Amino acid sequence: MTTRRAANFAIMSAAALAMAPSLAKAQTLRPIVLPPPRADFGISLARALTMRRSTREFDPRPLSPPVLSELLWAAYGVNRPTTADRTAPSWRHARETDVFAVMAEGVWRYDAIKHVLVPHLAGDVRAQTGVQDFVGTAPLNLVYVSNAEHLIGVSREEQHRVAAADIGFIGQNVYLYSASEGLACVFRASLDTDRLARTLELGETQFIMFSQTVGYPRA
Ligand SMILES: Cc1cc2nc3c(=O)[nH]c(=O)nc-3n(C[C@H](O)[C@H](O)[C@H](O)COP(=O)(O)O)c2cc1C
Repeated sequence: MTTRRAANFAIMSAAALAMAPSLAKAQTLRPIVLPPPRADFGISLARALTMRRSTREFDPRPLSPPVLSELLWAAYGVNRPTTADRTAPSWRHARETDVFAVMAEGVWRYDAIKHVLVPHLAGDVRAQTGVQDFVGTAPLNLVYVSNAEHLIGVSREEQHRVAAADIGFIGQNVYLYSASEGLACVFRASLDTDRLARTLELGETQFIMFSQTVGYPRA
């Protein structure tokens, strides 16, 4: 039997297959200064773990600035300011992951130390962050990019292995924050990473691993 979830996987988004829009310079975007996350938020850990799930039906309205701020902080923010250490661990403390926020107006890179979204590329490329239709209209697709420059002394295969683990922790942070705040969320491997890397004009040492869609649930 084909479940709706399986069907979702199978449906190739027409938008995702469309030509990339001509992208304006990132300078037309402004940095998004995120409000400080609340010092204390969320439901109990037990409740968040109970509520954690993947959902694929999103309301198109953008996330509010406080929610976007806390989501990014929970994902991979600085939780120990004296050392700039993060909410997610990383292999050999490499901190090789960049989190890109792909939204309707463009793409920003999360600067965790300044807790700011730095403009990367203008234009709506959400549809390129996956092969499922909802990615083109959901308000936020996080794209997880690893940088091999920070994964020194191991093979390419090992780089991918540790990068996957490091991003898995970030993804679970996003899942738990989403569960806590009643957001819809799904972690995704199904995407054309080469095409998206070209669109995002990534460097030679950068590679895309996963994406994760977050938004308010569709009513
Ligand atoms: C590595 C990984 C890749 C995934 N890729 C996709 C994907 O491309 N598209 C999708 O809709 N869900 C994807 N998922 C979500 C899984 O389908 C989902 O976690 C699984 O069905 C269990 O459901 P649950 O998260 O609600 O427990 C992925 C999950 C993981 C961990």
